[in-house]
Amino acid sequence: MYGMVNQAVRGLVTEKFGADTWTKIHTGAGAPENFSAMQPYDDAVTYNLVGKAVEVLGLPAEAILAAFGQYWVSDIATKHYDTMMASTGRDFADFLANLDHMHQRIRVTFPDYQPPSFRVKNLEPGKLQVDYYSHRPGLLPFVEGLFMGLGVYFKEEISFEHIDDTAHRLPCKRMIVWHKALS
Ligand code: HEM
Repeated sequence: MYGMVNQAVRGLVTEKFGADTWTKIHTGAGAPENFSAMQPYDDAVTYNLVGKAVEVLGLPAEAILAAFGQYWVSDIATKHYDTMMASTGRDFADFLANLDHMHQRIRVTFPDYQPPSFRVKNLEPGKLQVDYYSHRPGLLPFVEGLFMGLGVYFKEEISFEHIDDTAHRLPCKRMIVWHKALS
């Protein structure tokens, strides 16, 4: 993944747990202390960082990935890409429907990247079926964190239920997502 993703892992760890914890994690993972945002790194770098963070922080990978998803929205996307966030959607459902288009638009900046893809179907008001396609395994908890972060951003309450892979034949992770404006 592009260095900006690993940079964000570094940002989350140093802000929440301090520089010494980051030193333990990046040295243990055999990763550099910092990353070049616009340079692609092997996905193994990111997976190793998460694996080492599990060990050092004593937290499950799911919790770390979910926290990272929330942090990505609250501290990276909204701080550094606010215009893009604002132009991608006016609420959670609208934003998700346009997210593929947004990732495509930034392909000019990240020519070698492999963004995810989301197919969104409105089942009824406030209820979506979301199919998440990715070249990478295990990132569903990251997506959950991103959705929770988007909920905070759009002031909506988000909840979801995962649909078992055996319930459909598509090569994606399927979930039902409920969203409701906070009053
Ligand atoms: C607006 C700022 C955003 C930027 C600049 C951005 C950019 C990126 C970049 C560079 C990657 C790494 C892909 C690679 O290097 O191959 C990525 C991955 C990803 N992005 Fe975005 N993104 C943004 C917002 C979002 C939001 C709001 C979501 C919410 C669902 C999202 C969902 C994902 C996911 C799930 C991945 C992991 C890749 C995978 O699943 O295979 N992104 N994005």
